[in-house]
Amino acid sequence: MTEQDFLTVTDSRTGQDYKIPISDGTIRSTDLRKIRVSEKDHGLTSYDPGLFNTAVARSQITYLDGEAGVLEYRGYPIEQLAASASYLEVAYLLIYGHLPSEPELASWSEDISMHTFVHENIKNFMQGFRYDAHPMGMLLASVGALSTFYSDANSWDDPESIQLHVRRLIAKMPTLAAFAHRHNLGQPYVYPDNELSYTANFLSMLFKMSERHYTPDPRIERALEVLFILHADHEQNCSTTAVRVVGSSHADPYSCVAAGIAALYGPLHGGANEAVLKMLVKIGDISNVPDFIDGVKNGKQRLMGFGHRIYKSYDPRARLIKQAADDVFEVKGTSPLLRIALELEKRALEDEYFVSRKLYPNVDFYSGLIYQALGLPQEMFPVLFAMARTSGWVAQWLEMIRDPEQKIARPLQVYTGDRGLEYKPLSSR
Ligand code: CMC
Repeated sequence: MTEQDFLTVTDSRTGQDYKIPISDGTIRSTDLRKIRVSEKDHGLTSYDPGLFNTAVARSQITYLDGEAGVLEYRGYPIEQLAASASYLEVAYLLIYGHLPSEPELASWSEDISMHTFVHENIKNFMQGFRYDAHPMGMLLASVGALSTFYSDANSWDDPESIQLHVRRLIAKMPTLAAFAHRHNLGQPYVYPDNELSYTANFLSMLFKMSERHYTPDPRIERALEVLFILHADHEQNCSTTAVRVVGSSHADPYSCVAAGIAALYGPLHGGANEAVLKMLVKIGDISNVPDFIDGVKNGKQRLMGFGHRIYKSYDPRARLIKQAADDVFEVKGTSPLLRIALELEKRALEDEYFVSRKLYPNVDFYSGLIYQALGLPQEMFPVLFAMARTSGWVAQWLEMIRDPEQKIARPLQVYTGDRGLEYKPLSSR
């Protein structure tokens, strides 16, 4: 190690100098512990609400360069994968670390098909929800409930069981997502059709009525496949962190993925695509866009689908989604909300408020419009996000449980409350 690989700090409280090793552009937070005022001192801690500047893992899954707008899965640019790969191929890549060979993909696809059905009791469980239950809540609960159906759910250290959990999670997610949608409509649940591709089967479970065989328009099938690929992973985001944190206690993978769904549910994360549609409907007409933008600048509301913690330039996924939207609109006709979205984007990209804060459209800005054109209600948008993200969550969970450096997540706090108060009986308070 050379002198350049150290951070030299002087603690002004004691005048003492410390050399903290730097590797991969990071220092280890625990190295700060040696910076102490006294023997009893716990040592210096970094304060980082929202984990803005804290790396929680060494990962080989997804590479992101927010300044340059680059996204790669296992080293492959997202643009190439979106142009040529299938979702199951990408899921395999994320989970196993390499693109599958032809026989590997055939056997992986067959394995996934074999696990698409859920236990009838899961169906009955879902039937217990109110007719208007949010499908994301239904998905969250039913994925969590899956752990109760497998006695080996907690065998997170048995390689054979792990392979089964991985396949079950990828395979059953579309079934659960589609059941939730059919439940909201009061329509009978459609069982999986394993003759169809992963995406076509999902469309069949969503939309099939009395026809013997459901065959989706190939342009719709491909557009949805592209959306799934774009949503498959995004390194250490809020929901993936939730999966890793819950997994760090050695909870079963179904509970971990349920935690990911819970985190994704929020409007600042996966719920943003739903929030974008609500925003566009509220704006109502292209003539109201300037007033809406003024409201955003005055802090009245946020421009949903804009901004990102990491991307400080155009989100590459948003660019690809815009192309997929064109394909879907060609089949289904254009949404009147598209004009409002295009006008919002145009005005925001020219406005000093958004430019100076580096706020660009993110993955959620256009995805909702596609889902709406497919005939899905807003509530289903985050459900589709969760379905696609499952491969990423599973890959990250696997990486985490195999990483000898990982320990149970247990952050610290800066305590700012009272100390040593004296308890008073109720009558004298
Ligand atoms: N509209 C208006 N102003 C915004 C927006 C927005 N969408 N996003 C950020 N800002 C402003 C914010 O007010 C702040 O301004 P100031 O410096 O004057 O206080 C500045 O930009 C920095 O914002 P921040 O909230 O500190 O940034 P963050 O990194 O904590 O938040 C974000 C990232 C994605 C939560 C935020 O940009 C946001 O709320 N966007 C809208 C919700 C959204 O589209 N979420 C989807 C994210 S992409 C998919 C996913 O991750 O699930």
